[in-house]
Amino acid sequence: MSLREIDSDCWQQLETGASEPDAGFHFLTLASVDQQGKPQARTLVLRAVDRVKRTLELHTDMRSPKWQALAVNPDVTVLGYSAKTQLRLQGTVELHAAHSAVAEAAWQRLSRRTQQTYAGAAPGSDIDHQSNDVANAEDNFGVLLIRITQLDWCLLAREDNQRALLNYTDDGALVSSKWVHP
Ligand SMILES: Cc1cc2nc3c(=O)[nH]c(=O)nc-3n(C[C@H](O)[C@H](O)[C@H](O)COP(=O)(O)O)c2cc1C
Repeated sequence: MSLREIDSDCWQQLETGASEPDAGFHFLTLASVDQQGKPQARTLVLRAVDRVKRTLELHTDMRSPKWQALAVNPDVTVLGYSAKTQLRLQGTVELHAAHSAVAEAAWQRLSRRTQQTYAGAAPGSDIDHQSNDVANAEDNFGVLLIRITQLDWCLLAREDNQRALLNYTDDGALVSSKWVHP
């Protein structure tokens, strides 16, 4: 495969990850650094991909610790692994808060059942803590739009491990790419 083909194939696989729940890249690991400088990683569902802009859309509860952490430090790495392929995507998060145009559009696309997952108590809050709030689920719904600036592709193959680095401009153009030792 050429570097151009790797670029195209990876983004195709990410698109499939967003559209198909059984696809390898449907669940991704989002890594960030919290306000104490500690690394944090968690699983999120890949909701949408724009292969032209090189963005990934993820959804979260704005009351979760990651929301505040990402507001302070928007640098992230998104990690995926499927079929012997690791994708390590570096980028920057844009936070789209509840009722913003981006969040509103994403909210409308969610099923009723998924919308209701935002109505419960705050993520990470104590299980014994009873909330009397009658939450409006949508008030808690935020969108993370991640602009990818580097893709680190690594394929494990018995005799021929391969790895490539691809860099993108802010507007999504592939600006450089090279093979590196795995
Ligand atoms: C399979 C799976 C999918 C998940 N998807 C999401 C998701 O799309 N968005 C989200 O905010 N949390 C999701 N979670 C929960 C997160 O992994 C995490 O526990 C939660 O968001 C709190 O993270 P934080 O404390 O870093 O804010 C998912 C968990 C699992 C096990």
